Amino acid sequence: MSPDPAGLADAAALAVVGRPLVHDSAVKHVQGAAAYIDDIAEPARTLQVVPGHAPSAARGRILSLDLGRVRAASGVVAVLTAADVPGINDCSPSVGGDPVFAEGRILFHGQVVFAVAAETRDQARRAARLAVIEVEVETPAVTVDDALDRNTEVLPPYEFRKGEVASALEASPARTGGTFRIGGQEHFYLEGQAALAVPGEDGDMLVHTSTQHPTEVQHITAKVLGLPDAAVVAECRRMGGGFGGKESQATQWAVIAALVARATGRPAKVRLDRDDDMIMTGKRHDFRVDWEAGHDADGRLTAVDVAFYGRCGYSADLSLGVNDRTMFHADNAYNYPAARIHSRRLLTDTVSNTAFRGFGGPQGTVFAERVMDEIAVRLGLDPLIVRKRNFYAPAGDTTPYGMPVEDNIIHDLVAELERTSDYWARREAVKAFNASSHILKKGLALTPVKFGISFTLIHLNQAGALVHVYSDGSIMVNHGGTEMGQGLYLKVAQVVAEEFGVGIERVKITATTTAKVPNTSPTAASSGSDLNGMAAKIAAGAIRARMAAVVAAEFDVPAGEIRFRDGRVFGGNASIGFADLAKKAYLARVQLSEAGFYKTPEIHWDRPTATGRPFFYFAYGASCTEVTVDTLTGEMRVDRADLLHDVGQSLNPALDIGQIEGAFVQGMGWLTTEELVFDRAGRLRTHAPSTYKIPTASDVPADFRTALFESGGCRADTIYRSKAVGEPPLMLANSVLSAVFDALAALRPGRVPPLHAPATPEAILTAAKAMRSD
Ligand code: MTE
Ligand code: MOS
Repeated sequence: MSPDPAGLADAAALAVVGRPLVHDSAVKHVQGAAAYIDDIAEPARTLQVVPGHAPSAARGRILSLDLGRVRAASGVVAVLTAADVPGINDCSPSVGGDPVFAEGRILFHGQVVFAVAAETRDQARRAARLAVIEVEVETPAVTVDDALDRNTEVLPPYEFRKGEVASALEASPARTGGTFRIGGQEHFYLEGQAALAVPGEDGDMLVHTSTQHPTEVQHITAKVLGLPDAAVVAECRRMGGGFGGKESQATQWAVIAALVARATGRPAKVRLDRDDDMIMTGKRHDFRVDWEAGHDADGRLTAVDVAFYGRCGYSADLSLGVNDRTMFHADNAYNYPAARIHSRRLLTDTVSNTAFRGFGGPQGTVFAERVMDEIAVRLGLDPLIVRKRNFYAPAGDTTPYGMPVEDNIIHDLVAELERTSDYWARREAVKAFNASSHILKKGLALTPVKFGISFTLIHLNQAGALVHVYSDGSIMVNHGGTEMGQGLYLKVAQVVAEEFGVGIERVKITATTTAKVPNTSPTAASSGSDLNGMAAKIAAGAIRARMAAVVAAEFDVPAGEIRFRDGRVFGGNASIGFADLAKKAYLARVQLSEAGFYKTPEIHWDRPTATGRPFFYFAYGASCTEVTVDTLTGEMRVDRADLLHDVGQSLNPALDIGQIEGAFVQGMGWLTTEELVFDRAGRLRTHAPSTYKIPTASDVPADFRTALFESGGCRADTIYRSKAVGEPPLMLANSVLSAVFDALAALRPGRVPPLHAPATPEAILTAAKAMRSD
């Protein structure tokens, strides 16, 4: 950490950065004027493409594939299979194993076998159902337990070790543990997967794609089509949500659109039907967690031994990074004096699970909170006391992966939330309520979040930006980050406006395209503004320095003393309008365009030895949730939630609060109402909102209080000392699960509620029954 007092001191002087500006698309969103892929005016003769799968099979050899009736159906122009792939039939983001079209075998229910292109979408959808696919069906491994029985994995196991766990457990005054199950989650982005491919001359391909990773769409489209990367352009103006579900798994649809465009010479569009989207794309990994923890009579941990069994699905996809991040967050904010954190990446014959907000981290932290909750029940202590006793020291402790925790503000942050949420008075009120209420039980929980910021695949921590100042003084900014609703484009535009001392209206936000900034990383790991904001600042700063030099002599001051603010440029007693200076610089033949590049300093990680410093810094937060549970029906209501989150020195508090509240509600859905049900044949039964329950406006806590923690800025040298905000607050929802646990624990003091996640009404009722039984 290199403290930069200048950066902090300048905070008050900032004109655009730090302002709660409205999301650049907010008005357009509500007016329906913000264009998503399906809103782009279709070029003449655009074909509509629908993928087809084998409706009854999850696993087995393809005996025959009869597409005769599909081809003959009305309006059908082309039907493509693996045989029609000119390049390589694989769209994996990592080690391979993700065929664009099934070849020889069906690997999961919903796997794409063919694609049909027709004049209208309705014709394509009807035709897709006419395929006759004969499969020699084998019994699929559907669950983590199936995969453990069968012993199949997509990647080798991995482990962190700290100290001597076995002997520490042995010597512990008390031990607790068991098996905890954590459910997966469907992304349920409002805009489903979509892509529009437009063929150009010489075989070139332009792909409009709803993706968090345009560069990967470009590279994989090129690989599948057998083209050089330079022949393909991938472009994305915005997504209607990605949440990790479009980090790697947007690619297949873009590739299929491009394959059709190449085969027919016509533009081609894929827009997945919602049910197809839910069946054909991966979700958050669900886990079985087998654990044991040792502790003393005060609830202080002595050792933690935990095994995470993650359901990866049929292929590796991003499962290495996701499962690693679960391990990196198995400690959450707690010091484990000794630890063994084991991880297995299990292969099941189901859709390949993928990134989802928090990238495996939430599953790690929710486990850590369960450890705290169980110890509290066993010792009859308030869970908050147990939590605080186990927090990492403000500095000096080391994580199970050997990284020192140097920037720990959780003590102050939790102390503040304890006060503002009135935790102790409400604890007494909850106790009093429960003493006189036998059916309805209240629960209260205050849980911390500590989340590591940086891609753990170190090379991804880089970004590029392209800034132009035109001779009329208007500014265009482009960078490798994508907009999925989180407000990244506005944050980066604010940084550029600040650099030039102009109003935000002067900065033109443009769509992300591989033709402007190449070799970009996915917008993921919450790093969008950290990386792209810095790259844009570097580019803008270089142009500004050249512009300053243009007037320095005339103003008779050193270029370093020229100031850009309020749309003007000042030096000594003289000044000039920004637009006039742009014109002047142009006439003086000064370059007014620049590409900026940034890579995160200080981080390193050696995976084979599990040592290094994988995170540039940690993001912290805490939440306090109160719930009421009906122990006769299993119904649950969140009465109040208080969130306190650290974003360092906020780039835009309005956007940050939106991220914090949205993430909390999304996390609440994951832990309470959203349940993925696969049948024994490996088919997802909850593939529509009728059966899969995401939170709605009415589920938002009636009393919902969100505040930004005044931390004085990130201690690491980040863009204007801000902190990443996209994912960390999802884990604030851990307090909802802990509060439900707390309410159930009130049924029988000293007994641990057998509650797993998600705490659906069924799960709550089952746990309540177990608490009441002898
Ligand atoms: N917010 C909205 N509105 N929509 C999204 O899809 N994705 C989340 C988060 N916030 C998402 C969102 C995820 S998974 C990540 S990694 C970050 O945004 C990515 O953007 P950032 O790096 O700019 O924060
Ligand atoms: Mo976010 S899960 O890193 O796309």
